[in-house]
Amino acid sequence: MTKTNTQTLRVVIAGHVDHGKSTLIGRLLHDTDSLPEGKKEELEAICKKRGVPFEWSFVLDAFQAERDQAVTIDTTQIRFKSAQRDYVIIDAPGHREFLKNMISGAAEADAAILVVDANEGVREQTRRHAYMLKLLGMEQIAVAVNKMDKVDYSAETFDEVSQQVKDYLGEIGLHASFIVPVSARDGDMIAETGDKLDWHTGKTLIGVLDAFDIKAAPVALPLRFPVQDVYRFDENRILVGRIETGVLSKGDTLFFSPTNEQAVVTSIENWPEKDSLIKAQAGDVVGITLDERIFVERGHVGSHTKNLPMLSNVFRASLFWLSDKALKVGNQYRARYGTYEARVTVQSIDNVIDTQDLKSEDQKDALARNMAGEITLRARDLLPIDPYDHNPRMGRLVLYDGYDVVGGGMISMEGYPDQRSSDKPKSENIFAVSYLVSQEMRARRYGHKGAVFWLTGLSGAGKSTVAMAVEKELFDRGVNAYVLDGDNVRHGLNSDLGFSPEDRTENIRRVGEVAALQADAGLAVLTAFISPYQADRDRARMAAPHHFHEIYIKADLATCEARDVKGLYKKARAGEIKEFTGIDSPYEEPSNPDLIVDTQANSVEVCVSQVVDYIEQNILVSAGDDKNANGEKLFSVS
Ligand code: ADX
Repeated sequence: MTKTNTQTLRVVIAGHVDHGKSTLIGRLLHDTDSLPEGKKEELEAICKKRGVPFEWSFVLDAFQAERDQAVTIDTTQIRFKSAQRDYVIIDAPGHREFLKNMISGAAEADAAILVVDANEGVREQTRRHAYMLKLLGMEQIAVAVNKMDKVDYSAETFDEVSQQVKDYLGEIGLHASFIVPVSARDGDMIAETGDKLDWHTGKTLIGVLDAFDIKAAPVALPLRFPVQDVYRFDENRILVGRIETGVLSKGDTLFFSPTNEQAVVTSIENWPEKDSLIKAQAGDVVGITLDERIFVERGHVGSHTKNLPMLSNVFRASLFWLSDKALKVGNQYRARYGTYEARVTVQSIDNVIDTQDLKSEDQKDALARNMAGEITLRARDLLPIDPYDHNPRMGRLVLYDGYDVVGGGMISMEGYPDQRSSDKPKSENIFAVSYLVSQEMRARRYGHKGAVFWLTGLSGAGKSTVAMAVEKELFDRGVNAYVLDGDNVRHGLNSDLGFSPEDRTENIRRVGEVAALQADAGLAVLTAFISPYQADRDRARMAAPHHFHEIYIKADLATCEARDVKGLYKKARAGEIKEFTGIDSPYEEPSNPDLIVDTQANSVEVCVSQVVDYIEQNILVSAGDDKNANGEKLFSVS
């Protein structure tokens, strides 16, 4: 079994180009006696022959050259030892590798050294790398103010640069545990203090690294077992993967996402060795067998029933963008987190941050190279999702365009509900009963069939106003119409619900079911609910298939806010109402509504007659006729 070596601290070295990352790595290896015997002498001899002065960065170049030739050498990791313990440097030659390495769990770092040139201070890449460290949740950060030899070992310069770094880190919510003046070239303050920087009373860089903690394997978090591969041996199937978080025991019931299939673990195979285990935990690579042949494939995530990942086809990401081609709304990418992979479309860009000055950009139509931002992504199917703040190991994301890594960061579900609903009824012994009065009989009696007209839009867009006027007009014309209105229903049926994403989803689920029943009873039902999530509206459509019409009552946020009939926008802006749609809670515009009613451009009368016409076209039945005004058959549904 592959166990995480708990004695090794993994450290990533970041910083601006030419600020001395490679020199520092060469120096760390030398000063800790971790270089292969004779390596330095060999390189010095080569330099002499070529007539160039020896530099410590050549050590790293030599490593890289060896790696390029020999595939067997570990490609991303350089090891060294202090007197205290072992270290692995996660080598990140460029941005892309840095981000990719940091995000793929395999190379997760315990700590980071941010190298800053004493002469140049904080530069572009210092800021970018620091921002990435933040996006990746790095908590143990040391800053090495390098090239102190170039500034005469000046304590003043060190203080100035330290302050610059602290200011930037502070602004993005990071804290450097240590800031150390060093000269990687000469070796001061690396393993030994030396005599030039002895005014600095803190630890040497190695001392600092020794003071960092090795991240404990996340056993306390809920179990996540993303399946890496399924092997078949005769009748048996073995699911292989690394337990990312939590503990798995033989006999546990494993619930797989997103398929919602479950089975009991009959054995945990120690892999590649041959003995079986009773228990395995975060960091272990295992193969398991199940008591039932359920459908499981690569990417599916096993968890305990009590603590499941969320399921959603929409989620958000705080992202760092690396590609020359800007990220734009509507673009598609391949999203990868854990072993899961899905095609996603950019639904919206919610915030764009320039990592240099940390200003929020007004332009939100694109995320350009080296920008950070918050975006909303949509997938076709439901995906198992753990937001970063629930589970840092599962909540990191990389976006690919073809095979190129184009961005990465962390997943959030802020503003969006878990869509893991219990679709199946809770009770088992229930049986549907058939009606003796058919929809057709009702429609013939009422002169129209029943249907749901689902009005969606921002608060203040005019849903209730239009719905009530339409109801009155239809009533006057002899149609049995009825409005279910958000504010009204929330006083009764849904008085137990607030405005959290989950509560809104439940609000819409209940209303969708009630509307479907009323439509079955033959009513023309109008609903006036914000219903901000497409998935909820789709589910309401499923409750009343064949007679559901999505009507987008359209007015943009600025218009609704200017109207502010109930004064709620003002309160929301003042922070008195939280999770207010359009302000700090999302609204997903219908992607393909049956009707769009633009209340911004048209008067109430125009909008009302537009809806009345649409409804009449779809439901009126004239005697002996079984088609509506569109020529569609009315009673295809039993
Ligand atoms: S929904 O999002 O769950 O569909 P619903 O349509 O029922 O919302 O209720 C919206 C109405 O509740 C708004 O018109 C407004 O009067 C009121 N309201 C109170 N708090 C909020 C909030 N945080 N977000 C949106 N509307 C709110």
